[in-house]
Amino acid sequence: TQAESFTGNLFLIGFMGSGKSTIAAELSRMLHRPVLEMDEEIEKREGMSIPAIFSEHGEAYFRQLETDLLKETSALGGFLVSCGGGAAMREENVREMKKSGIIVLLTALPETILERVADDENRPLLKGRKNTADIEALIEKRRPAYEAAANYQVATDQKTSAQIAGEILEIL
Ligand code: S3P
Repeated sequence: TQAESFTGNLFLIGFMGSGKSTIAAELSRMLHRPVLEMDEEIEKREGMSIPAIFSEHGEAYFRQLETDLLKETSALGGFLVSCGGGAAMREENVREMKKSGIIVLLTALPETILERVADDENRPLLKGRKNTADIEALIEKRRPAYEAAANYQVATDQKTSAQIAGEILEIL
């Protein structure tokens, strides 16, 4: 199929809890392609958790690690890249992604996001903000940049991973 012969990278972007990791894993099973989980790769390289990187080195340091990793990744191909939620907020990063592949934005309603992130302690930017109003405000702030970056958008509310992955395969 066309999806199987796609040789670039596929970048999944979107807000925390939009389903990037889950859908990258689902696509990986379907396409037999490796996943690059940006947050996980950065944690491995730094030898510490995302909250520890934020608290010990600050957010700017973390953002530079993301940019460096994206540059490396765009020099390669064939990855299903599950981006950190902030990765598409830097224009420089978006340029890197576009060089080597296509960008799919996953969206979800604030209520859906809240359900998905409720028990997660690993997201410093959501600390003390786990309510619909705060999440909605954060999403709205990011939406213009996400939409400008994306080649395609897929809504994830009330759908199974298989359905969402199927929609993405049709795009490729
Ligand atoms: C962030 C999202 C997180 C992680 C970091 C910052 C963001 O990734 O990179 O906590 O700025 O939206 P997930 O989208 O995988 O939660």
